[in-house]
Amino acid sequence: MLAKLSKIARQLLIIPSVRQFVGRIRLFYFLKIQKRWQIISSENAFDNTNAHNLRGLHYFDTPRMNILIKPISVLEFLNHDSKILVVGPRNEGDLLSLIGHGFSKDNIRGLDLMSYSPLIDVGDMHQTSYADNSFDVIISGYTLGYSKDPQKWVQESLRIAKNGALFGIAVEYSEMTNDDVRKLCGYEIVEEGYRECNSVQEILDLFSAHVDHIYFSHDAPSKRSHTADGLVSNPSRICVIFTIKK
Ligand SMILES: C[S@@+](CC[C@H](N)C(=O)[O-])C[C@H]1O[C@@H](n2cnc3c(N)ncnc32)[C@H](O)[C@@H]1O
Repeated sequence: MLAKLSKIARQLLIIPSVRQFVGRIRLFYFLKIQKRWQIISSENAFDNTNAHNLRGLHYFDTPRMNILIKPISVLEFLNHDSKILVVGPRNEGDLLSLIGHGFSKDNIRGLDLMSYSPLIDVGDMHQTSYADNSFDVIISGYTLGYSKDPQKWVQESLRIAKNGALFGIAVEYSEMTNDDVRKLCGYEIVEEGYRECNSVQEILDLFSAHVDHIYFSHDAPSKRSHTADGLVSNPSRICVIFTIKK
């Protein structure tokens, strides 16, 4: 009976408002009561990375990770025992959603430059302390764009992924120039001289010969982008889910 109730409670986490409720209570507990907070910088991240991402620490109900988590949750070679790393979760939202979709809390780790959570390790995705061949799944949702050196992240991820591991990577589609971003946000994110991946092909090119089977490819079909004049409500997403060979 208790096991059934606990399963129902976990499944409720796929509902955004439930995730927001649980996420905020846990955030309050770990941040304000336990006073858990760590933040580091990375020489491979753009200067405004932390300031920009701190603004979103309280949001647990954004739907944009669904494009990664829902397809991954139906792949039949993954299960409760799959070891999952979420790169750049910012808060526990992505992890709670994975738990809601049936993955085990004990096998999910987050990695971020900031953390209040016992589920999220503080570290730099370009150089981690995980052992070789640690993970069955590596998920990076809307994080790649903060890297000055995506190739370094790919090399590090290939090291810590098992041979045959699944990668799920999403970035937001954008037609904005740096001037547009400065006008919209008041500061830049991607610094001059750098360019974010803006297509599935550009993401796959980072992995070159290591790409094995592509399970899901969503190349921003509607091409909706924020503009200097304002945010669009539902920007297009670029997402690719594939296995790798080492
Ligand atoms: C935009 S948030 C994504 C949050 C969540 N996945 C979502 O889509 O709602 C990007 C996250 O990547 C983290 N990040 C940026 N550079 C990083 C790095 N070098 N190593 C680890 N995490 C990094 C940021 O701190 C931030 O929490």
